[in-house]
Amino acid sequence: MKNVLSKNIYNRIFFAGVTILILLMIAACGNDSDKEKPEEFSGEKKTNVSGLSEFELKHGFGPIKKELKLGPIDKTVAANGEKIFESKCATCHKLDEKYTGPAQRDVLQRVSPEFFMNMVLNPDENIEKHPHAKEMLIKYNMQKMTNQNINVKDALALLEYFRVLDEELKQQNPTNK
Ligand code: HEC
Repeated sequence: MKNVLSKNIYNRIFFAGVTILILLMIAACGNDSDKEKPEEFSGEKKTNVSGLSEFELKHGFGPIKKELKLGPIDKTVAANGEKIFESKCATCHKLDEKYTGPAQRDVLQRVSPEFFMNMVLNPDENIEKHPHAKEMLIKYNMQKMTNQNINVKDALALLEYFRVLDEELKQQNPTNK
């Protein structure tokens, strides 16, 4: 009887020990994967004071969610972009002077191509959430850039036009890369 009892106690201590060991191992694994995750997804996860992801801060909000792979400039597409600018944007933007909105010749020296696209395709959300667009809103007397219902193809043509203007600026002033 005494023997059975002490065997029982040993069994319990043994199982309690094993259970604690298993729990410790699970806890340790949990910690490890927590540590690894932020590194793996650092691009997405990191936020800054404004609460935006790094991508959003650099490239704004809108349908462009990945960095664009831009090939050599296509002059024909750029010429089409110039026409779109004249008909849809020139009511508010000039190339070299402030107007309702900022002068646009050097826009790609202020913002990334992705931001340019997102601003053209989705101005409202950027004006509401993005620090650069908000700053511009204040600078331009709370005049809002309105959505011009530009499709992605036309936005890419506009981008091509501004890439040409940007190239010209860089050639005139090579330090301004
Ligand atoms: C109704 C006037 C209006 C129209 C039309 C307009 N914009 Fe704007 N745009 C603005 C204003 C004002 C701002 C400054 C931010 C704000 O208040 O929205 C701005 C900001 C921008 C920016 C932000 C980046 C920067 O630093 O300049 C880009 C890019 C831009 N416009 C491009 C365009 C393009 C391309 C078109 C034509 C598809 C266009 N806009 C049509 C008024 C306009």
